[in-house]
Amino acid sequence: IIARITRTSDLDSLSLVSKRLHTIEACQRRALRVSCVLCPAREALASLCSRFPNLWKVEIDYSQWTSGNGKQLDNKGLLVISSRCHSLTDLTLSFCSCINDSGYLADCKKLMSIRLNSAPEITSSGLLAWLEYLGWHGSLEELVVTNCKGINQYDPLKFGPGWMKLQKFGFDTKKRFFDIPGVHDFHDHLCDAHNPSEYDFFCETLKNLRLARFETGTKVGLRFLLGKCKALERLSLEYVFGLNDKDITALSQSCRNLKSISLWLTPLHYDDDFRTAFTDNSLKALSLCCPMLQAIELTFSGCEPSWPSEIGFTQEGVLVLIQSCPIRVLVLNSANFFDDDGMKALSSAPFLETLELMHSQKITDAGMGFIACTPYLTSLTLRRLHNVTDVGLAELAHAQKLESLIIECCRSISQQAAQGVARSVHHSETLQPGFIEKMYF
Ligand SMILES: *[C@@H]1O[C@H](CO)[C@@H](O)[C@H](O)[C@H]1NC(C)=O
Repeated sequence: IIARITRTSDLDSLSLVSKRLHTIEACQRRALRVSCVLCPAREALASLCSRFPNLWKVEIDYSQWTSGNGKQLDNKGLLVISSRCHSLTDLTLSFCSCINDSGYLADCKKLMSIRLNSAPEITSSGLLAWLEYLGWHGSLEELVVTNCKGINQYDPLKFGPGWMKLQKFGFDTKKRFFDIPGVHDFHDHLCDAHNPSEYDFFCETLKNLRLARFETGTKVGLRFLLGKCKALERLSLEYVFGLNDKDITALSQSCRNLKSISLWLTPLHYDDDFRTAFTDNSLKALSLCCPMLQAIELTFSGCEPSWPSEIGFTQEGVLVLIQSCPIRVLVLNSANFFDDDGMKALSSAPFLETLELMHSQKITDAGMGFIACTPYLTSLTLRRLHNVTDVGLAELAHAQKLESLIIECCRSISQQAAQGVARSVHHSETLQPGFIEKMYF
């Protein structure tokens, strides 16, 4: 019974009822998330670790920390976790500024996931020391490094045998555009970085890869993973600069199981051109080589609708991909090449279930009329589509196909028109949090 109670507050209440329930509950507790209220951190954590002997997931989150909260958990506190949580498999350290390279995790022999989020004192050598140890034990399946100033994109590749069982890898600098050095001009835009003699490791199990907000340059860095990890199923490239069509071609040719791809792009200067990194050649490579591709997101930042050539893709290129692969999910953000003709083509997309459109001036009520006919469309999201009105929504209402409709920041669509169009309707005049950061970084 206790195992079926999931809310922490309920579990806390339960364990107050009797000593016996307290003991049983303590043994059942698997996950613990501690924040800045834990003070003094080391002592409190030591007692939590002995009270809950079977913890497998621990998250330390100091994102709300201020100096008034007292001392943060430090290396010695990490040692407490390492030595007392014998079942620990999943560890997240967020905004821990007192843990540095001397922190020690070697006793966590079962660790399978490590997420480091804003750990400013941990550098590559510290991470490599941890990873080398865990890697040799061969257990690590997930590694996510976000906003860690001391860790650069070349270091994770030195992890060697640690890649053998890794299934998920993420690297995000969280930098803003103007803080990424060297992104403003690319002269070597067709460089071929897939000659990986320098790195000798296997990443045959990697399924999920997310790279965000850095510049790869010509010297092979994390871009090397794109042609190397053959089992890749989900890929996100969010403002990774220096990549080109050759990277996507290499990826397409080696990752036949790719199911989902997400590309966030902004235009850059390439010799005579000012455009986003990939062209229709990339889309063509994906259409030819990735028969399992089901989900595509294309997000463009800083592309002027009056200069369509700033986007390297065209509507035709995207439609070829949709016609060649069993696409179920399509997300287009500021894809200003996409218009009602594109919507017409989507009306015969045989697998399309989920469509999200944001910021497209060329999509109008006529477009809504077309997608009302898309055979399996059940979920539609419209954000900042100012040329779609209540008339367009009436077409969708008439078709009665949608399970879910989300309308955000569309000034010509009224709340009343949205009601009843789908089983679940969300209408709001503002964008969900996170969108602004995504679009204008
Ligand atoms: C880590 O922090 C400790 C305590 O603040 C300090 O003594 C030590 O020199 C630091 N180690 C590294 C490698 O920065």
